Amino acid sequence: MIKVEGLNKKFGSNEVLKQIDLDIEQGETITILGPSGSGKSTLLRCLNLLETPTKGTVTIDDVTYTAPKVSKKTTLQLRRKTAMVFQSYNLFENMTVLQNIIEALVTVQKQSKKEAVQTAYDLLDKVGLRDKENAYPHSLSGGQKQRIAIARALALNPKVILFDEPTSALDPELVDEVLNVIKTVVKQKSQR
Ligand SMILES: Nc1ncnc2c1ncn2[C@@H]1O[C@H](COP(=O)(O)OP(=O)(O)O)[C@@H](O)[C@H]1O
Ligand SMILES: [Mg+2]
Repeated sequence: MIKVEGLNKKFGSNEVLKQIDLDIEQGETITILGPSGSGKSTLLRCLNLLETPTKGTVTIDDVTYTAPKVSKKTTLQLRRKTAMVFQSYNLFENMTVLQNIIEALVTVQKQSKKEAVQTAYDLLDKVGLRDKENAYPHSLSGGQKQRIAIARALALNPKVILFDEPTSALDPELVDEVLNVIKTVVKQKSQR
């Protein structure tokens, strides 16, 4: 599902990723550990081409690129395979919870609004926040925001979800609700 071969990333003279090799099967869950500044985010951002690696080959599902030359088309194809959940949620503050989830489905994936809303409702049920469909992000707790961000990522039906420290901005008592949602998702996805 994900294959990384000889991945390198330098920022100027700062060699952040050195010859990374990875082989991850469908249904597998991988955790990357390391101190702050060790390159965890950079690795994830190279996988979906938010950063262009200096060198190396990455395959996700049936899309392959070899850095540093990557076409726009390949970039788009690869982005469609992945969704990312950030430490800082990155919800659209001026949109309701429902709008946050359906936005990309309608504008990028060209789904009908009706279909997108149905997908959103199913996912809001899954993350236990169906009653928040009309709320704005500022009125939600950090844990609720992150559960919405996860629902939004799942709505894209990606092959891969990249979680970048999804609980590190949360108060300790809110960490479990987010981890439990992730665990449920992982269980359901890997049973497919
Ligand atoms: N856009 C960037 N420009 C220059 N240096 C960067 C950039 N992004 C990350 N870095 C550097 O790359 C290293 C790894 O950062 P990062 O991947 O964010 O680490 P982590 O996520 O493990 O904390 C750090 O030294 C950081 O300063
Ligand atoms: Mg990071």
